[in-house]
Amino acid sequence: MTIRYDDRVAIVTGAGAGLGRCHALLLGSRGAKVVVNDLGGAVDGTGGSSNAADKVVEEIRAAGGEAVANYDSVDTPESAANIVKTATDAFGKVDILVNNAGILRDKSFAKVSMADFEAVIRVHLMGSVYCTHAAWPIMGENGYGRIVMTTSASGLYGNFGQTNYAAAKLALVGFMNALKLEGQKNNIKINTIAPVATTRMTESLMPDEANKLLQPEFVSAMVAYFCSEQCEHTGDTVEAGAGHYAAVQIVEGAGVSFGTNTDVTPDMIHSRYAEIRDIGAAKPFVNSSDAVAKVLQAATAG
Ligand code: NAI
Repeated sequence: MTIRYDDRVAIVTGAGAGLGRCHALLLGSRGAKVVVNDLGGAVDGTGGSSNAADKVVEEIRAAGGEAVANYDSVDTPESAANIVKTATDAFGKVDILVNNAGILRDKSFAKVSMADFEAVIRVHLMGSVYCTHAAWPIMGENGYGRIVMTTSASGLYGNFGQTNYAAAKLALVGFMNALKLEGQKNNIKINTIAPVATTRMTESLMPDEANKLLQPEFVSAMVAYFCSEQCEHTGDTVEAGAGHYAAVQIVEGAGVSFGTNTDVTPDMIHSRYAEIRDIGAAKPFVNSSDAVAKVLQAATAG
């Protein structure tokens, strides 16, 4: 079985460079009609040029694929709607949306300006929200959709100097967690990639030896799987890099229940805090109701 995207229309945001370019080339090489979106700015999001998106469109066409360029920013509702309009004007629909566009404004929290904090939230979080919101009714009407969010180990685990980026990136997981429930009835699957790859965004952070192993193509294979009809899963987060793929989940420990027939004091919490934070028997939940049910069950059992 070969996974292909014939008759599927894909939007990849931030596809003029790095990971997005690689995702777009892979989808295009397997039959998808691709909207290559990129405003062509610097890593911090300043500046802009149509060259970045145009070059990738040329690459896809040169390999025999179909693609059109879009130069809008993902970061306003109007420009995001225009990205989706580029797809419907050129190809009549949208089946696949890869929310990949991103910028960095790294500074320690003491030094970061609120303007830089908000710019990062706007591009990563709101950009993904705006593009998804514009594509959502089309996918709903067609009863088909594949959406990929792009998170980061910085958001999942933390990274010094990236409070803005970490907040934005983990927010995308929360966005997916709720959206996956709303997409279910229309066969819209939403999953999240946590990439590790050498791009202009990361190449200065790692030694040359590591950079050689972290080819973006390894990440694109996972993204392309999430974009396929064959992907029946929704709400998954997978870290991908250097040929390694692993699920990441938010889990809850077995916990401690004092019951409801006694007052719980901070001293009681202190004495059992090691058990409370133990995640040895942890498990994930498919939605928040299941997590609340566990709390109530523990209360009645205790
Ligand atoms: P990159 O800088 O090579 O590519 C990002 C692309 O997004 C650029 O072409 C840029 O022009 C475009 N872009 C930025 N703001 C935009 C906007 N408002 N509208 C449209 N396009 C915009 O960086 P890279 O590494 O390819 O990053 C891709 C995604 O992967 C980002 O969301 C990034 O945060 C994420 N990521 C990357 C990691 C890595 O190891 N490279 C690690 C974790 C996450």
